[in-house]
Amino acid sequence: PPVSEILNLYDFEVLSRSILAPKTWYYYSSGADDEIALRENHNAFQRVWFRPRVLRNVSEVDMTHSILGCKSSMPFYISAMALGKLGHPDGELCLTRAAGKTGIIQMISTFASFTFDEIVDARAPDQVLFSQLYVNQNRELTRKYVQNAEKRGIKGLFITVDAPQLGRREKDLRAKNADDGGSEAGAKIQEGQKVEKGEGHTRAISSFIDPCLNWDDIKWFQGITKMPIILKGVATWEDTVLAIEAGVQGVVLSNHGGRQLDMARSGLEVLVEVISELKKRQLWPNPNFHIFIDGGVRRASDILKALALGASAVGIGKGFLYSYCAYGQEGVERAIDILRDEMIMDMRMLGITKLSELVPEMVDAHGLTTH
Ligand code: FNR
Repeated sequence: PPVSEILNLYDFEVLSRSILAPKTWYYYSSGADDEIALRENHNAFQRVWFRPRVLRNVSEVDMTHSILGCKSSMPFYISAMALGKLGHPDGELCLTRAAGKTGIIQMISTFASFTFDEIVDARAPDQVLFSQLYVNQNRELTRKYVQNAEKRGIKGLFITVDAPQLGRREKDLRAKNADDGGSEAGAKIQEGQKVEKGEGHTRAISSFIDPCLNWDDIKWFQGITKMPIILKGVATWEDTVLAIEAGVQGVVLSNHGGRQLDMARSGLEVLVEVISELKKRQLWPNPNFHIFIDGGVRRASDILKALALGASAVGIGKGFLYSYCAYGQEGVERAIDILRDEMIMDMRMLGITKLSELVPEMVDAHGLTTH
């Protein structure tokens, strides 16, 4: 169908399922084990209700925002996703170009199918990019990667901490014997290292990640870069407190789109616990520390709920991944337009004209597990 017939981000997913090679579909869509965390990422949003206010003159709505001090046209960013070329020949570049045109921030995966520099070269003047890091056993490779990112003007380093090894995604494993050239797409990911064929994408990538990573390494990163450091994949208030003590600039509360530890709670669910415990310890609000969430965000209403509950911004993964599989860059632009329209509509009906008016009282979150 023409892209104008796509009405929401879920439509892109249905279409992608019907056009992608099975192996790609399984790699993109699967969650770990029984996929309960994957499902719960969506279910959690359905347990939060709005408390809209009325009669507030909502003719003008402004949703400009800043993420880590960088201007963003809306309060979300495109999260890191590996192997973008499996879905479209232009892969990650579809995201970069559409994000540049619309003023959205993209986070580049360590395991993107295009090289880091190819993606950065595709950015528009002044376009803000973040970088996601899987830490390699070979710290020299990691140091080079990080310092190149800083040199190229990357505005935030998101170190993924929920993947000492990659989760067991069984659909991906079952598809391992089909060969659609996907391993080639992954083969460029790190200098001098080759992805083994026939292992399933997930297992192949897993071998590059260092399971020894620990809190002491964070100091090392602070010594090699001045970029803000954000820990991606924190799942408890305890680790959020440790992150503040470690002096990093933020965390992404996330279960990695349900792809890592199954039964790890969704980012939204964890957010409520984290904000409440930080408040008890006078650690929140905190202008120097940012709390992001991701997982299951497909509608502006999801974004608004997360912001009302204290998130600085939210990450979107699969919603954007599927938007380019059928339509390339145009699909991503359509996805961003759809979210913009939904944002304006929902903000008006909530009775707010600015994102700063989103306070906890705008939602009823009693349906989330309180603790
Ligand atoms: C991911 N994600 C991810 N995260 C990361 O830190 N590095 C990576 O390379 C990848 N790769 C990746 C590939 C694919 C195909 C998917 C779907 C996801 C996780 C991603 O950044 C984010 O945490 C989740 O995707 C958020 O959940 P939703 O929006 O996909 O529901």
